[in-house]
Amino acid sequence: MLSKRKQLDNLNKYWQENCKCGLKKTTTQAVFGDGNANTKIVFIGEAPGKKEDIEGKPFIGRAGKLLDKMLEGIDIKRKDIYITNIVKYRPPNNRDPKQTEKDTCNEWLINEIKIISPKLIILLGRHSMLRFFPTGKISDLHGKLLIKNIPELNKEQSFFILYHPAVALYNGKMKETLIKDFNKIPKVLIKINK
Ligand code: URA
Repeated sequence: MLSKRKQLDNLNKYWQENCKCGLKKTTTQAVFGDGNANTKIVFIGEAPGKKEDIEGKPFIGRAGKLLDKMLEGIDIKRKDIYITNIVKYRPPNNRDPKQTEKDTCNEWLINEIKIISPKLIILLGRHSMLRFFPTGKISDLHGKLLIKNIPELNKEQSFFILYHPAVALYNGKMKETLIKDFNKIPKVLIKINK
C-alpha cells in the first residue's frame, strides 16, 4: 500500500497533465495542496492568488499569513495540517472562479480528500462552502460544527465553515468574527474525537 503522500504525489502528477481547466492557459503553474498527508484537518480555500501562482504553494500571501497567525493562536502548526483549494489554478486578476472551472477541478479535489480522509474539513469562504453546502448562506453556517453525508466521499463528514481570511484583511468586523470562529476549532476537534 502506497503512503498517503505518495498517493497525493501520483494524483497531482495525473491531474497536472489531464486537468482540462481553462485557467491553465493563463497561469504559471498548478498549485497543489500542501501539508501533512496524515493530518486530521484539511482546510479548503478558493483558488490561488498571485504569490501562490508564482511560487506554486497555497496560502503563502497575505491571507496565508493571517491563517498562519490564527493557527499559531490555537497551537496548531501549519506542518500538521493540509491545505488545498477548490480550483488549482489562479483566476486572472483573482476574479471569482467560474462554475466550469470549479467543476473541472472537482475530481482532483475529491480524490485528494479521499486519500487523506480527514476527520474535519474546514471550508474557507463562500466558494468553498458552496461546494458542499450548495444552498447554504455563510452568514448562517460559519462557526458551527456541521455533519453531512457526502456520497462522493462515502461518509458522514464533519465540516467547519469560516469566512475567508482574504475578506477579513479589509473588513475589521469580519476579522473579529473569523478569529472568534477560528478559536473554536480546538473544542470542535475534541467533540469529533469523542
Ligand atoms: N486564497 C485562497 O483561497 N487560496 C490561496 O491559496 C490563496 C489565497
